[in-house]
Amino acid sequence: MNACPRRSPTLAPVTDQAPDTAPNPPAWLSALAGRFLVFEGPDGSGKSTQFRRLHQLCEGAGVKVCEVREPGGTIIGERIRAILLDQSLDHMSLRCEMMLYMASRAQLVQERILPAIAARHLVLADRFVSSTYAYQGAAGGLPADEISAVAHVAIRDACPDLVIIFDVDEVTAARRTKGVEKGAKPNGKAPAASTLGLFDDRIEQRGDEFQRKVRQSYLDQARADPAHHLVIDAARGPEEVWSSLLAGLEARFAPRS
Ligand code: TYD
Repeated sequence: MNACPRRSPTLAPVTDQAPDTAPNPPAWLSALAGRFLVFEGPDGSGKSTQFRRLHQLCEGAGVKVCEVREPGGTIIGERIRAILLDQSLDHMSLRCEMMLYMASRAQLVQERILPAIAARHLVLADRFVSSTYAYQGAAGGLPADEISAVAHVAIRDACPDLVIIFDVDEVTAARRTKGVEKGAKPNGKAPAASTLGLFDDRIEQRGDEFQRKVRQSYLDQARADPAHHLVIDAARGPEEVWSSLLAGLEARFAPRS
């Protein structure tokens, strides 16, 4: 299932338990320079909030960050994103959809990710190949080996050092994406259109079963390759999730004495 030949040595698997000792941000944050971290999770996992927070923390610690979001992130990728979002193209085949995500990714790797790693910047990616396995693969129905074959062509050896999965059950996730926890007003009115994600219409159409499969796929991917995944319980509040994220990263990247 994994498309990635690895470019960094395997590190010990990590849980999201907080360490006994206080975190020492500068030491492990500096070790993130030149690394490639991917944030993943079902819609409504709250990963984007944590993503922004980590970006700020790293920059505050003097680590240069290259932030990328999928689909998109380049001029070509944004055009592909517009095609993926175009509701008049709802007859698009699943294979075509998968290859458009990969095409956007191929450009992103070439134009932004590889140069950033070479410059020893930290690459922070909001979604990458794992999303395609989860959405077009496990939930959509495309065989993993087909996705893997296309991923090999699209990204070659640009594999993440760590994929962080923000794990959330579909009930909590649906509550968040429907706006109860995301901008809904106390008067019960729906959130303004600008607070909704670009893909929210599609998410609504997909239903709980689809989201369950997405979640399960992420957990399966983590189980299959624990050294390159960190699973965080994202059903909790943002502060607890943040603490788990920091603890997990410190355990993974703190220099060994
Ligand atoms: P978007 O609102 O842009 O961002 P996010 O949910 O990450 O905050 O939604 C992106 C959507 O695209 C999301 O529903 C997952 C989906 N997706 C795929 O189906 N396959 C992929 O390969 C990627 C990268 C995303």
